[in-house]
Amino acid sequence: MSNKTEETSDMQVEQLLEGSFTNNTSSGVKGLLLYSEGNFFQIIEGEKVFILDLFETIKKDPRHYGIIQVIGRDIEQGAFDGYKTDIITGDIKYLTVIPKEYTDTLEGLPWDLRKIMERMLKTFIDTH
Ligand SMILES: Cc1cc2nc3c(=O)[nH]c(=O)nc-3n(C[C@H](O)[C@H](O)[C@H](O)COP(=O)(O)O)c2cc1C
Repeated sequence: MSNKTEETSDMQVEQLLEGSFTNNTSSGVKGLLLYSEGNFFQIIEGEKVFILDLFETIKKDPRHYGIIQVIGRDIEQGAFDGYKTDIITGDIKYLTVIPKEYTDTLEGLPWDLRKIMERMLKTFIDTH
């Protein structure tokens, strides 16, 4: 999770999401990247060395700050179908359940990890 820097425009956020989607789709990185009112929520899944390297790159990106790694796990089997990116605005915040399009992406995770992710996702959507 992280915060968008002041200088980063909405247009730049869109470009960032698009660029991440394109890169991850071609490199086989899977997961989720959401943006909501100044905050990023991201899950990246893939081959460990590649993911650790990508995370180092992401941490140096000047478009955000206050990067917090909430969880990091070795897993036996990949859970995500592909890479999903989205900007969360308006009405979604008033929903009581997390939209299926986001929870679907968590379905393949081990049960305990899935519950943690669902809770974090709900908190992210609720509080922004
Ligand atoms: C919140 C956040 C998440 C990002 N996630 C990814 C990502 O999943 N994959 C990726 O390739 N770049 C991601 N980036 C961008 C990288 O920091 C970096 O700009 C990019 O990998 C460089 O790729 P390029 O050489 O194709 O521009 C992210 C940046 C931010 C601020």
